[in-house]
Amino acid sequence: MDLKGRDFLKLLDFTSEEITYMLDLAADLKEKKKKGILTEWHKGKNVALIFEKTSTRTRCAFEVAAHDLGMGTTYLDPSGSQIGKKESIADTARVLGSMFEGIEYRGFGQDIVDELAQFAPVPVWNGLTNEFHPTQMLADLLTIREHFGKLEGIKLAYMGDARYNMGNSLMVACAKMGMHFAACTSAKYFPDPSLTEECRRIAARTGASVTLTEDVGEGTKDADVIYTDVWVSMGEPEDVWAERIRELSPYQVNGTAMANAKEGAVFMHCLPAFHDLKTKIGQEMWEKFGIAEMEVTDEVFESEASIVFQEAENRMHTIKAVMAATLGVPEE
Ligand code: CP
Ligand code: NVA
Repeated sequence: MDLKGRDFLKLLDFTSEEITYMLDLAADLKEKKKKGILTEWHKGKNVALIFEKTSTRTRCAFEVAAHDLGMGTTYLDPSGSQIGKKESIADTARVLGSMFEGIEYRGFGQDIVDELAQFAPVPVWNGLTNEFHPTQMLADLLTIREHFGKLEGIKLAYMGDARYNMGNSLMVACAKMGMHFAACTSAKYFPDPSLTEECRRIAARTGASVTLTEDVGEGTKDADVIYTDVWVSMGEPEDVWAERIRELSPYQVNGTAMANAKEGAVFMHCLPAFHDLKTKIGQEMWEKFGIAEMEVTDEVFESEASIVFQEAENRMHTIKAVMAATLGVPEE
């Protein structure tokens, strides 16, 4: 398997075998890290990290992973560069491509990261767009595989806002890996219809399935994984909160949803999560709408079934695998 020189823009661009290869590489890199074995495979190289939206996990994962691979990093924050305001994406791609060996981009439309990749002579990695969050997918798949020992046949129920980057991406990830994906939410929040069709075609080959249901009982029944994400994503206007709280509250991950899932089911969330009042936005929503927990209850978030911090750690190991694979893995 050789992914050297490839971009990492969305999981749809990769075969199931290529995804498995990156997961295996991540597992190997994780083991090496735990044992203190250095993997400075790309000493002397540098990567640019463009963040047009804020981040904790993705930025830290890219920085730590790059350092572990022996590389330097330059972080371009949401306001500190010329990108998009004074300089086009195509020009930015050629400038950064002349100084760095790889470019990470987090921002808005998928078309932006696609254009960056088109014009940059080095690998481009998608650190989240409105449509997709592919590095998160590798972390989620690795976490599920670590927990259950397999991916094939696992049922993942996604509750809440399934029409955005996380719902779309998890549907693709499940279809590619022979898993059963159920979007369990109001029909307005189902994933993109043409993407759903594409995933159903992939599922027919891999033994996966794609279900869209408004019925919480049906969606969560026999689920191995119950997954959710924030109800309002970065870049969306603040005034959608009221509507989201009203429409998505029935799809909150709570004790009832978990009890309906399979015995031994786990809870996952890409994070950050609104599960208590310890955040500024959480406080604001409490004051405005009287809601203390949003997409997941604190009880579920803090329960034994919750594997969200293992999932967060795996962001780093999988992002390291993506960079290593696309920049080249040395022969052992
Ligand atoms: N899950 C995730 O992408 O987190 P950050 O927004 O903190 O990077
Ligand atoms: N849907 C969320 C994911 C954050 C990791 C967002 O785009 O803000």
